[in-house]
Amino acid sequence: MLPQALLLLLQTWIVVADTQQLPLNQLQTFSSATANPATYALPVSPHLSVSVALCSYKLSNSPRFFVSNKSSFVPGPDDLGKPNVYEIDLGDGGLGSWTGAMNVSGTLAVYNATQVPFEVGVSDDGPIHQTLDSLPEVGDTTASQVLLFSPPFSPPDFPVPTYPNYTLPPANLSLPPEPASPPDYSIFIAPTSSSALASLPRTGCAMRASSGNVGVYEPASASEGLWLRDAGGWRWQWFVNGMAPQTNYTAYAVKNGTQVTAPINFVTKSATFSCPIVYGLPYCPSVAYAAPIPGADPATGVTAQTLPSELSSYLISNIANLTVMLTTLACGRDLYSPLVTCADCLSAYRTWLCFVSLPRCAEYPSSSSSSSLPAPALQEQNATNPRNTALPPYPENYTAVLPCVEVCNAADRACPPFLGFRCPLPQYTAGSSYGVGFIDSGVDGQVGGGSTGTAADQWGNVWCNYGGVL
Ligand SMILES: *[C@@H]1O[C@H](CO)[C@@H](O)[C@H](O)[C@H]1NC(C)=O
Ligand SMILES: *[C@@H]1O[C@H](CO)[C@@H](O)[C@H](O)[C@H]1NC(C)=O
Ligand SMILES: *[C@@H]1O[C@H](CO)[C@@H](O)[C@H](O)[C@H]1NC(C)=O
Ligand SMILES: *[C@@H]1O[C@H](CO)[C@@H](O)[C@H](O)[C@H]1NC(C)=O
Ligand SMILES: *[C@@H]1O[C@H](CO)[C@@H](O)[C@H](O)[C@H]1NC(C)=O
Ligand SMILES: *[C@@H]1O[C@H](CO)[C@@H](O)[C@H](O)[C@H]1NC(C)=O
Ligand SMILES: *[C@@H]1O[C@H](CO)[C@@H](O)[C@H](O)[C@H]1NC(C)=O
Ligand SMILES: *[C@@H]1O[C@H](CO)[C@@H](O)[C@H](O)[C@H]1NC(C)=O
Ligand SMILES: *[C@@H]1O[C@H](CO)[C@@H](O)[C@H](O)[C@H]1NC(C)=O
Ligand SMILES: *[C@@H]1O[C@H](CO)[C@@H](O)[C@H](O)[C@H]1NC(C)=O
Repeated sequence: MLPQALLLLLQTWIVVADTQQLPLNQLQTFSSATANPATYALPVSPHLSVSVALCSYKLSNSPRFFVSNKSSFVPGPDDLGKPNVYEIDLGDGGLGSWTGAMNVSGTLAVYNATQVPFEVGVSDDGPIHQTLDSLPEVGDTTASQVLLFSPPFSPPDFPVPTYPNYTLPPANLSLPPEPASPPDYSIFIAPTSSSALASLPRTGCAMRASSGNVGVYEPASASEGLWLRDAGGWRWQWFVNGMAPQTNYTAYAVKNGTQVTAPINFVTKSATFSCPIVYGLPYCPSVAYAAPIPGADPATGVTAQTLPSELSSYLISNIANLTVMLTTLACGRDLYSPLVTCADCLSAYRTWLCFVSLPRCAEYPSSSSSSSLPAPALQEQNATNPRNTALPPYPENYTAVLPCVEVCNAADRACPPFLGFRCPLPQYTAGSSYGVGFIDSGVDGQVGGGSTGTAADQWGNVWCNYGGVL
């Protein structure tokens, strides 16, 4: 008979022999567990994060993941409550993590995962799998296209011009150099009502694996590249075809394959909606919406290369004229306000000009959407007689969602009074050209207190047209 000590040693050795060592700061993918429980040895670190993501549909019998930071001990459900034993709760999203001190090599034990692919990430720099609070953003939709943006990153660092060499950016703006190593983002889009989506784990690996089946998963390499839409930072930009008309979609952004944002919704337009999405205009960086450009193919959208030249010339010449007028002021020396500068005026004016010159096509929300919400600022437009003469006539009448009055107020506040820039007063005529009362209350001079507090929400409602300022 073997001595007790040797027996213990032998058992330990068997556990160790079966146990795959998980390397630090790496992601491991398992097509399924080989044993039940399957055990993995964890590396030593004073601050170790072990994160887990399920990569396929939840089964009725959910896999469970236990961590012990005690050597040669395989934790299980019966050990919960004991010291050094922890369960990684996967929650509804199919993703979870444990972070703590791993002073000795502990064990990850995986139960009932013999039929489920999963990922394990071990890191000393926070959990590799995470749910992010940030949101992707919708530019706009058509009947079958959507323009989507990742959350922002790397905010631009513009040099502040100073007197006497006060140089304003050119009218035909060129974006600053792109960040050298942008974070990797992908986007996942699926119909909101899909039952397959309902049971899909909210994990990068599950979304990637279900592409072409539950939804579409587009990596950064399938995007239109980086875009600087506003001062919030750079974003990846995707122009996606193949959507179904009048459908509510759910979208997630996935950072580095493992970190998933909160969801957003968007609704595609009806099949008769004809305006293409206009985007990628350096002189109007915040334009990213459907506009009445005649003769354009909605499947490709309209960019700087294809926008009618009379319109681009009008916009650039108008901004250049404002720049000339502004520089009659000794910008940077003769301060007209302690808060804003000539550069602020130019950028707020640029956004205002782009938004009023390029109307945003829209549609009345379908009757099925919530009637408790305020009605958006929609207005019928006369196709043959556009308000802006630089806009070519459009072959059909269309509905526009008006710019938010705050777009005008931002330019009014940022520009010197001698320019004579004035916005209509909310209580009089503003409502005929702008969406009033959504963000700000509509009481003259009052900021905030509007009916929705926002121009558009995370769930796909749009009340007025608003763009950030670069
Ligand atoms: C196990 O983790 C807990 C929580 O982080 C920590 O307090 C404890 O010191 C750890 N024990 C060992 C042996 O690492
Ligand atoms: C594990 O390490 C941490 C930090 O180094 C320490 O605070 C803790 O007391 C240690 N736990 C055990 C059980 O040794
Ligand atoms: C694994 O599944 C079986 C049923 O198939 C169940 O009895 C058992 O409790 C599950 N294990 C864990 C750790 O939840
Ligand atoms: C003025 O500033 C611009 C842009 O910052 C720079 O390119 C130019 O060289 C400067 N000119 C002088 C005379 O400093
Ligand atoms: C704006 O500048 C770019 C080069 O930066 C040029 O290719 C483009 O033609 C200009 N656009 C217009 C409308 O002048
Ligand atoms: C992204 O994930 C890979 C492994 O999938 C990892 O090697 C890399 O460090 C991660 N990058 C960042 C910036 O987190
Ligand atoms: C800019 O100024 C020039 C010269 O005064 C004028 O001809 C042109 O029409 C102006 N452009 C716009 C868009 O107002
Ligand atoms: C639309 O424009 C045409 C052409 O200018 C004009 O004849 C018509 O009266 C306008 N209709 C409305 C409703 O303004
Ligand atoms: C647009 O509407 C106006 C007035 O309602 C009408 O006169 C005109 O014929 C319509 N134009 C088109 C292209 O449908
Ligand atoms: C889209 O669907 C979601 C979930 O059902 C809902 O909350 C949201 O209001 C819908 N969006 C619109 C614009 O109808």
